[in-house]
Amino acid sequence: MASSTLQSFVARAAALACQRPDPADCVLALAPLMLELTEQATAFLEPRHYRSDPAHYARHLVYAAPDASLSLYALVWSPGQWTPVHDHCCWGLMSVLEGVLEERSYVRMSPDCRTDEGIQLVRGGVALLQRGAVAGFVPNPEHIHVTGVSQERSRAVSLHLYGRTMNGFNTYDVSAGTRQHVSVEHNDS
Ligand SMILES: [Fe+2]
Repeated sequence: MASSTLQSFVARAAALACQRPDPADCVLALAPLMLELTEQATAFLEPRHYRSDPAHYARHLVYAAPDASLSLYALVWSPGQWTPVHDHCCWGLMSVLEGVLEERSYVRMSPDCRTDEGIQLVRGGVALLQRGAVAGFVPNPEHIHVTGVSQERSRAVSLHLYGRTMNGFNTYDVSAGTRQHVSVEHNDS
C-alpha cells in the first residue's frame, strides 16, 4: 500500500468505522470518503487492478486490514458478466470508476434469516451506477443483490469496500429457495 491517498483513506475509514458499531452509521460516515477515493483512484490503482478475465468478472485485492476489519477491491466487469444472487454478511460501499454498473436487488420475504432453505426472495429495485456514483448497504437483514454489466454496455470498473475481509459470502438459488456459503480467496471472484 504505497500510495498516500490510499493510506490516508484507510486510516480515516478505519477510525470512523470503529467509532460506529451500527453498520448504517458506518456507511453514512464512510460514503463521502468513498466518493473522494473514487475521484482519486488513478493515484493508487495500478495496471494490474484493471485486468479483466474472460471467464468471469475479475476481483483484485487493493487493501486488506491486518485485523480483518476492512477490505478494498477493484472489480472489472466485461459486458455480460454478472455475480450470482448473493449477500455479504457485513456492511459495504461500492463506487464506479468506469462504465455503468447495474445492481438488481432482492427482498427476502421469509422471516427467519438463519435458515438456508425455504427462502422466499422477490425481485426488488434496480440501480444504474455511472462513473463517480457511490452506493452502500448494511446487513441484518442481509442486502441481497446481483451486480454486473449488461451485454450491450461497455466494460465497467468499480471499487468495493467491505467491513471485513471478504473471504466468503452466501449465494442464493432463487427458484429453489436455498442459499449456500461460498468461500473465496482474497483475490478470487
Ligand atoms: Fe455484492
